[in-house]
Amino acid sequence: EDGGPEPEKTCGHDRGGMGEDVRRKEDRRFVTGEGTYVDDIKKDGMLHCEIVRSPHGHARVVDIDGSRAESMDDVVAVITAEDLAAHDLATMPTLMDDTQEVLVREKVKFQSQEVAAVIATDRYAAKDGAERVEVEYDTLDAVVDAADAKAEDAPIVREDLEEDTNHIFTWEAGDEEATEQAFADADVTVEQDMYYQRLHPAPIETCGCVADWDEDDEQMTVHMTSQAPHAHRTLFSMVSGIPEHKVRIVSPDVGGGFGNKVPIYPGYVVAAAASYVLEQPVKWVEERSENVQTTSFARDYDMTGRIAATEDGEILGIDTEVLANHGAYNAAAQPSKFPAGFFKIFTGSYDVPAAHASLDAYYTNTAPGGIAYRCSFRVTEAVYLVERLVKALAQELDADPAEIRRQNFIPEDAFPYESATGWEYDSGNYERALDKALESVDYDGLREEQAERIENDDDTLLGIGLSTFTEIVGAGPGKQCDIAGVEMFDSCEIRVHPTGTATVRIGVQTQGQGHETTFAQIVAEELGLDVDSVEVEHGDTDTEPYGLGTYASRSTPVGGAATAVAARKVREKAKSVAANELEADEEDVVWSRESGAFSIEGAPERTVTIEEVAAASYMNSPADEEPGLEAVDYYDPPNMTYPFGAYVCVVEVDRETGEVDIRQFYALDDCGNRINPMIIEGQVHGGVAQGIGTAMLEHVTYDDDGNVTAGDFMNYLLPTAMEIPEMETDYTVTPSPHHPIGAKGVGESPTVGSPPAIVNAVVDAMAHAGVRHVDMPMTADRVWEVLDDAGLSK
Ligand code: CDP
Repeated sequence: EDGGPEPEKTCGHDRGGMGEDVRRKEDRRFVTGEGTYVDDIKKDGMLHCEIVRSPHGHARVVDIDGSRAESMDDVVAVITAEDLAAHDLATMPTLMDDTQEVLVREKVKFQSQEVAAVIATDRYAAKDGAERVEVEYDTLDAVVDAADAKAEDAPIVREDLEEDTNHIFTWEAGDEEATEQAFADADVTVEQDMYYQRLHPAPIETCGCVADWDEDDEQMTVHMTSQAPHAHRTLFSMVSGIPEHKVRIVSPDVGGGFGNKVPIYPGYVVAAAASYVLEQPVKWVEERSENVQTTSFARDYDMTGRIAATEDGEILGIDTEVLANHGAYNAAAQPSKFPAGFFKIFTGSYDVPAAHASLDAYYTNTAPGGIAYRCSFRVTEAVYLVERLVKALAQELDADPAEIRRQNFIPEDAFPYESATGWEYDSGNYERALDKALESVDYDGLREEQAERIENDDDTLLGIGLSTFTEIVGAGPGKQCDIAGVEMFDSCEIRVHPTGTATVRIGVQTQGQGHETTFAQIVAEELGLDVDSVEVEHGDTDTEPYGLGTYASRSTPVGGAATAVAARKVREKAKSVAANELEADEEDVVWSRESGAFSIEGAPERTVTIEEVAAASYMNSPADEEPGLEAVDYYDPPNMTYPFGAYVCVVEVDRETGEVDIRQFYALDDCGNRINPMIIEGQVHGGVAQGIGTAMLEHVTYDDDGNVTAGDFMNYLLPTAMEIPEMETDYTVTPSPHHPIGAKGVGESPTVGSPPAIVNAVVDAMAHAGVRHVDMPMTADRVWEVLDDAGLSK
């Protein structure tokens, strides 16, 4: 009601710079229905592609007969793997060194896998045609989870590979010996099994593209709903052999991505191949169930965590073993040097002297993937593990979970801090965040209420869950992180025009995060331009500088840094023009962040604004300067940024039904210097909603035959407004010391940080009866069983 916390305004010129709640420039077109998404694109002579998918999870393809479909008037072509092979397009690389069949050649490996495609003059005809393609299958036994895939007699998913096993890789981190010693020295050790279930990122807009081969120009233009247009251009060129400068990827408005739109899917390749052969534009857009059942899933980590401590609660070590289900192809989207992504950050916000993790990944008859769903490459699983273990330790020691955290936090003066697994945390102040959180929710009062309810044998139990997580966002550095070999830098080009307005082109790609506003704010801050005079462009590989795209909250840490540095390069050039205008030596000219203008040092009354400099750059350029006012920057970050948060979730658990009511959710985020507090708040609202979905509702399930039993929105349950409580957002500011504007990422923090707060709250409600764990999603029946086992049900 009071409008939320005051933004910490850092710029003095009042033109929409850092720290201002500038309204989102892009929202006008979104709320008036004027956005352009892939399915809005229509081209003359455009054909439509529909994929024929396998009804079985594991089966040999005996025969494909497309003749009935081909005889239909509006059907133009039926495509099989054989047709693609003729153009060397039968397979495509995944983002993790595996090779995926575009259309099945011999054996289906997961339900709804792509078997054939139908091209027709309209979408209905394509769909009718797909229904008339007759495929004969010989079904096989399926294996759908990693533990079963490990068994000696398990069906082999990948007979195309040399080794007769479902095992993909083993990965280890930390120091095993030191960790064993820590456990031997410990007074208490606690072990907890926990499954981070398979999730679907569920963007509102499903995947799709319009591929358009221009035979005259020998150019392939693909409008696609992509989070990484440049990386996709490189992959398209590598797969198709079309020279990269003749491939243009345009990512128009993107209706959510959440990691789902980082990989390349077979539909893109089929549409592009069909357009090439038929010389007509071809559109392919998924239906909802296709998106849920076949595009990259997230999580699916079966974890056993152990924590060792002294009897006083000092953490000595953490050890963990993980079984990872990677589906039918190893298509995880991680930087190639990190097979388990950033899971290695599993020591969280705590000063843990010894840590070790080992992980084994397996193929199964499930859809391929393992993408970073609103997460930095498996940091979500790592945060869940450590936040659950700390809670379990507090229970074992009968200690307050807030105090155990405080006692073990990496202290404020220890930054930069090197973790036991080798990350260098840039900055943090965890205790300040926790203190603010506890005070804001009246933690002591809540604990009293909880005790009273227990004493009164109330029908509902109160649970208070904490999550004091640390994130790792902003991949690069390029030498450590890459996608398909391309280093993870990012870029920005700024052109200031003669009349003092600017065009800013960025290599990252918004999917709803508000980059057209926040990146303009960075330029407004650094140049003194009005935010309304700055137009941000993204998503067209023909005009934007090369960038690695938006996922893993890397836009602000990497693209935002490139934007600030490019603006500073423009400012440097502007300074020499301003000196000419002021008839002064360049060394004597200063720029004031306060006024956003240049003046002679010691004589602030005579100023030259950036608008005046822009005009002079084109109309009165100094003799020794080239005309024009523009700069480009490719930014390779020296380190990642480490945002953090202190979340408190308060739940009421109904002892009769097992239903969980989230009564209060408080989210304090520290993402360093804030560009737009209102946008950050929106990011937190959305992320917590997704965290609630994770904790309470969502799970892509399979039966033993490999049938997806939660493959549409009737069965894969997303939270609605009904399930989302009123949230309180809050912040502290601990700038990143290495980021040009001191900012860290924030987009994924709430999705990463909220599930453990919710699970900790539900466990906390039943902790007095010895309950240690409830697996997600915490549906009423699951919670009721735990209540009943603990003797708490009514
Ligand atoms: O990469 P992605 O855009 O998903 O994540 P992000 O870099 O965390 O940014 C999400 C949104 O929050 C963007 O519009 C950012 O510019 C904004 N943001 C901000 O205003 N201040 C920060 N310190 C971090 C992000």
